Amino acid sequence: MIKPLSLPWEEAAGLPLAAETAWRALNLLALNEGETLLVHGAAGGVGTLAVQFARSRDVRVIGTASEFNHEYLRGLGAIPVTYGEGLAERVREAAPGGVDAALDAVGKGDAVGISVELTGDPERVVSIADPEGARRTGARFSAGGPASGGGPALTAALALHEAGILQLPVHRVYRLHEAAEAHRASEHGHLTGKIVLAVA
Ligand SMILES: NC(=O)c1ccc[n+]([C@@H]2O[C@H](COP(=O)([O-])OP(=O)(O)OC[C@H]3O[C@@H](n4cnc5c(N)ncnc54)[C@H](OP(=O)(O)O)[C@@H]3O)[C@@H](O)[C@H]2O)c1
Repeated sequence: MIKPLSLPWEEAAGLPLAAETAWRALNLLALNEGETLLVHGAAGGVGTLAVQFARSRDVRVIGTASEFNHEYLRGLGAIPVTYGEGLAERVREAAPGGVDAALDAVGKGDAVGISVELTGDPERVVSIADPEGARRTGARFSAGGPASGGGPALTAALALHEAGILQLPVHRVYRLHEAAEAHRASEHGHLTGKIVLAVA
């Protein structure tokens, strides 16, 4: 696949894994136009792409994030909601018509349990980060692997990027000798978009 000129190298490097994961999860959720999707961890790498793929399918998106990332989520077309105690109530207020499906892209704070409670259907809840929560509630867990195949996801992401309706901000580019620091930043878990490790 050829990198479009409009896509910076750092952004291109961050795209394939996040795009494949978000695409795979949304396909499992079988979203219909006009439905409402809840995305936990919406400001992260996978969450950012899930929000934009869903918006491009005319799905309404409620995204959880810290206050710091609320403006960012509005810019992606999502309705931001702060995570933590009282989350289910805040989501109900943001989505008076109900939540049809949910993606857990964070694996913390019982995102899976809250999602099953809000959707009323574990079949329409997918986690990519909490296999135990999925097993306990009957929700679905999706893991990637060599057989996942990222082609369709990348094709869709590049087409949306060229149309000016998809972005994947780079949180920070680290040099190879900063790999340990990059790991620490990733583990800290409060990223906006992707971190990228550059060899040169
Ligand atoms: N199964 C798979 O195929 C697969 C593939 C890729 C990644 N993953 C996993 O999926 C998860 C997400 O990956 P990622 O690369 O998108 O992570 P990331 O870029 O590090 O993003 C994490 C996001 O989670 C948010 N966050 C932190 N604590 C939260 C909480 N308690 N509730 C809601 N949001 C919270 C942060 O937003 P704030 O800064 O606003 O708090 C941050 O934007 C990771 O656990 C990763 O290992 C799984």
